[in-house]
Amino acid sequence: MQTPHADHSNIVLIGFMGCGKSTVGRELHTMMGYPLVDTDAVIEEFAGKSISRIFADEGEETFRDLESRVIRELEHDGASPRIIATGGGIVARAENREALRQLGYVVWLRAPVHVILNRTRRNTSRPLLQTDDPADRVRTLLAEREPWYRETSHLQLDTAGLTSREIATGILESARYFFGTRKSSPPCPPT
Ligand code: S3P
Repeated sequence: MQTPHADHSNIVLIGFMGCGKSTVGRELHTMMGYPLVDTDAVIEEFAGKSISRIFADEGEETFRDLESRVIRELEHDGASPRIIATGGGIVARAENREALRQLGYVVWLRAPVHVILNRTRRNTSRPLLQTDDPADRVRTLLAEREPWYRETSHLQLDTAGLTSREIATGILESARYFFGTRKSSPPCPPT
């Protein structure tokens, strides 16, 4: 296990598109009552347009800049604990990986490729998967990103076959342990 060194007491969900970050984030929010911040939603609100439109009008780099900005602001405003659900590509920048770990307990939600494809197939809101061969795109991006998810996370969770409630319960248990081993006050979700 890696040494905990985060300054904030957030629970941060990372992982590939379609691995359930938003759903599990909502579940954790319901169970714990902490505010839920979804970085994609913050970006859409700030930009006043959808992620697909940002990609189409300004390109991926502009989207990544906005993503970095949201993470920096979350790091600096100091408000915690919160549940933070992130976009799947947030780990692509080293500065974001570092900031995510400073934000709290980072959980990597994983799912097999066929599950990812099933969950994302009918949804056209993810510009990176609007290709002739989404399966190839998913495999390529996963191969590139897995080392980053690994490096950034304190916990890896295989979500296949689990309900979002079960996943959230597992995260809560391990978060209690993680924050309990730190000097700063841990979050105390209702039992
Ligand atoms: C992206 C994932 C999306 C969104 C954007 C780019 C990615 O979020 O941020 O479409 O690069 O993997 P979800 O992981 O919530 O789908």
